[in-house]
Amino acid sequence: MSSNFLCALLILAFLESGRSNSDVSISHSRDGDGQNITCVLSGDENMTQIHWEMLRGPNRTKLGMYHPRFGIYINEEYKTKVKIQNKTSPHQSLLIKVASNESVHICCAFITFPSGKLEQCTDISEKDVGINASTIKDFTYMEQKPKLGLFGRLGAIIIGTILSLFILTILFYLCKNNNCRRKKSFEIRTYRTDSPSETHAEESDDAPTSQSSPNGFDPSKLYAKIKKDLFYGRLWKSYQGQPKAWTQVDTSREATMNSHCVGESDGLIFCLARPEDYDDVMAISQDIYGGNDYLPHRYHFWMTEPGRVVIIARRDRKLVALESGLVVDGGETVIVEGLRVCPNERGCGLAGVIQTFVDGYIKKVYPNVKTKRLTRGDDPGPEKLSKFTLLARRAVLSLLGNSEGFDSFVSGLKEKLLASDGSNSSRPLVSVKDLDALKPLLLDSDLSPKLQLPGNAIIQDWQPLKLMESNLHVLARRNLTWFVDGSGGKPLFMSLHTPPYPIPLNGGSLRFNIDLYGTDTSLAKKALTAHLDSVMSEIQGVVVVHIYMHQIIFDDLKQFCDGHDTVKQLRDFWEQLLLEREF
Ligand SMILES: CC(C)(COP(=O)(O)OP(=O)(O)OC[C@H]1O[C@@H](n2cnc3c(N)ncnc32)[C@H](O)[C@@H]1OP(=O)(O)O)[C@@H](O)C(=O)NCCC(=O)NCCS
Repeated sequence: MSSNFLCALLILAFLESGRSNSDVSISHSRDGDGQNITCVLSGDENMTQIHWEMLRGPNRTKLGMYHPRFGIYINEEYKTKVKIQNKTSPHQSLLIKVASNESVHICCAFITFPSGKLEQCTDISEKDVGINASTIKDFTYMEQKPKLGLFGRLGAIIIGTILSLFILTILFYLCKNNNCRRKKSFEIRTYRTDSPSETHAEESDDAPTSQSSPNGFDPSKLYAKIKKDLFYGRLWKSYQGQPKAWTQVDTSREATMNSHCVGESDGLIFCLARPEDYDDVMAISQDIYGGNDYLPHRYHFWMTEPGRVVIIARRDRKLVALESGLVVDGGETVIVEGLRVCPNERGCGLAGVIQTFVDGYIKKVYPNVKTKRLTRGDDPGPEKLSKFTLLARRAVLSLLGNSEGFDSFVSGLKEKLLASDGSNSSRPLVSVKDLDALKPLLLDSDLSPKLQLPGNAIIQDWQPLKLMESNLHVLARRNLTWFVDGSGGKPLFMSLHTPPYPIPLNGGSLRFNIDLYGTDTSLAKKALTAHLDSVMSEIQGVVVVHIYMHQIIFDDLKQFCDGHDTVKQLRDFWEQLLLEREF
């Protein structure tokens, strides 16, 4: 806060330090055989004294001066010709009488604080001149400073503007750097929460406890609670019946801080995230992904997930960033997820800093990792993409409605299916819950080319997993529902859904992700309908459905879903990018 304040002050000071509003106006009028010359100082100035001078050609002669404390002084040789009068207030006006009409300039100079010398001159040989028609402003020696021509003025304005912009730019970067204290070096302490050997043991036991339903997770009850209180994370915890770690506050946090902290560099401390950091993580996660953030729901599951590293960065105890990595492919690949930076530190490179730290940490703890993989919902452009291998782009169709709306929507889809006569519409889709039954199919090397899998992987709710035995353990703990083309032989189509889970959208909604694999349109329509139908009894309230698919079936599927009043497309065509790079 203080740095922002300082920046604001600096910028204001700069803006204020330009020319002040103070000014001197001069006027003269004939008075018998002399001239009355009146000077007025305007603006918020403290006048210290006033000088009167006469300019004859290049010669400048002092006539006299006025000082608020010492009074009026007139130069000896002009004592008979000049009279200085102090009008109502010397701050505002002075009168000088010159006993001749010769062609000279008379100048009055106000010595002021803080502007210094403010001077104006008038040619008393000219006809009477009004107060604001003063001849030359703010100059010191009129005869030595010829007026600037048009180009001279233009040049001065341009140079002034460039200089101002230059100074403002420097101020901006100074302020930005002040806010963006980018890190230079890291020291990493490794603190391993699990080992690869633990991984498989835990996978089958704990798996479904928190991410999805088996231990009594009921989205509809959760949804009702979310509706009542926007602080959905706390509700989620109470719903889970877990002890409320956030009530233990800082003393316990302080005591264990060091043992969980794995590195630091100027100003930032990196720690393994713990359940009690939940509220702080939620505090930097407001409005992420337009309310579609999965982390409020997944966070506690992540705390115990085998092969998962979740790192938070704190600055002055304030949580400022989070990044997570899941080690897959038998320890050779890390999938990075969850990246987020607190809103007031975004745009300063902090995402890069935490990513670098997490990479380093993972390299130390999991030295076999050779590849980094991630998915993104935005296209960062060719320059950023060039740092990765772009494995695939998937099309995403997003629908929004409430549960009743989806009910009639699904009935409508079923009717459409009955009326359709696609070439493969008679092929049956078989529902599979037990992954073991799918294992031979998933490990068949023909599957990937047949279904045109993105990067030879199944992307389950943004998590790209190559089809290999060790990754089936990861999939098994996700409580997925699969539909597979069951017409015998090699399947033409396969799809899966993740159980609906609560997200912050609209103060509490459900998110339902369906991943479709294969390019057969009639099977895709069938699969979509089947997935929606199978969760109808579970969903309540507002539901967002994201359907991820091969781009060539997007238009047909969109058309299939169009034309319903109750369920609308949430956003236009968008893409999921699958990226990979050497680690
Ligand atoms: C996206 C977000 C993390 C970027 O944070 P930031 O500190 O402002 O990031 P910067 O713009 O300074 O970029 C720093 C680095 O992070 C990378 N980065 C930015 N957004 C990224 C993203 N979505 N996924 C991966 N890397 C990203 C940048 O490419 C850059 O890397 P480079 O230096 O190698 O080019 C931040 O805006 C945020 O928290 N947004 C909300 C959450 C979100 O959208 N997360 C995206 C997860 S896919």
